[in-house]
Parts: sequence; C-alpha cells; structure tokens
Amino acid sequence: MESLNLTTKILVYNYEESTEAIKKLINEAKSATKRAYAPYSNFHVGAAILLSNGEIISGNNQENAAYPSGLCAERVTVFHANAQYPDVAVETIAVAACNSEGEFTANPCSPCGGCRQVLLEVENRYNRPIKVILYGENKIYELESAKALLPVGFGADSLFD
Ligand code: THU
Repeated sequence: MESLNLTTKILVYNYEESTEAIKKLINEAKSATKRAYAPYSNFHVGAAILLSNGEIISGNNQENAAYPSGLCAERVTVFHANAQYPDVAVETIAVAACNSEGEFTANPCSPCGGCRQVLLEVENRYNRPIKVILYGENKIYELESAKALLPVGFGADSLFD
C-alpha cells in the first residue's frame, strides 16, 4: 500500500502587506459586495477577477427565494468573465464577504465546493493556474492555483481515463 501525502501552500498576510495589484483586486471584490443580492442569508460576497488582458471583472452572490437557484459570487463572476472574454485566461480571483452592515469577515472567505469545481475547470480550460486571494480583515490567504483548493478533483481527464 502506498500513501499520498498532499501539501497545500497558503501564503498568509494582511492588507497592508499586499502588493498594489492585490490591493486593487481586493478593493474591487469588497466594493462588489455592495451590489450583492443576498436578502435571505444577509451574507454579501464579492469577487473580482483579473484577466490576462488586464481587464478586471467583478460580481457578487445572487440569491433566490428558491434557494438552490441562487449562485455564489465566484461563479457569477467567472462565468461572466468567460462569457465576455472566452479566449482570455483568468489570472487571479479575489473574494471578500461582509454582513448587511458592511462588516467584513475577520477570516478569509473561502469558496464552496461547487465554486472550487468551476474554478478548476477554468484553470484547466486555459491551461494556466488561477491565483486565489481570500480576503479577511485579520488575514488574507493566497493560494497559487484552483487545484490547490481542490486536490484530487474531478475533471475532464476523469471522464475519459
Ligand atoms: N456564497 C458565495 O457567494 N461565495 C462563497 O464563497 C460562499 C457562499 C454565498 C452563497 C449564499 O448566497 C450566501 O453566500 C450564503 O451561503
């Protein structure tokens, strides 16, 4: 029997320690929370994506009275980016979340499983790692790829082994 020991590298820093480019993306994600539609959870999530052409796309969670019909900020944003720029790779995504009073989470807001799955597909589609920035007031996590968020994930290669 063999054992696979997987490790995930996560850089931990705070806003002041971020580069100007990361600060800009975090600010876009934070500002996108203001446009979220989250009357059921009151959990307002914003995401901002930097594309390889320099364009920044932002989005937020969109809820629905039929709860499962709503969609997370990460998927709203990445699908919008891919819909507008199908030939442009996603370089970085930043995510931030706050309550209805605009108070941001102390800890990094981490994507749900469904969003990890979608980000992994986008990463594979453009054959380029997506840097993931998860914002929290006290600390920020930076992962080097979507694969780091979803190791041993299901992808196209799983279908046709
Ligand atoms: N949500 C996101 O938009 N992204 C996440 O990473 C976690 C959860 C949304 C879904 C729902 O609208 C609300 O936050 C509460 O789960």
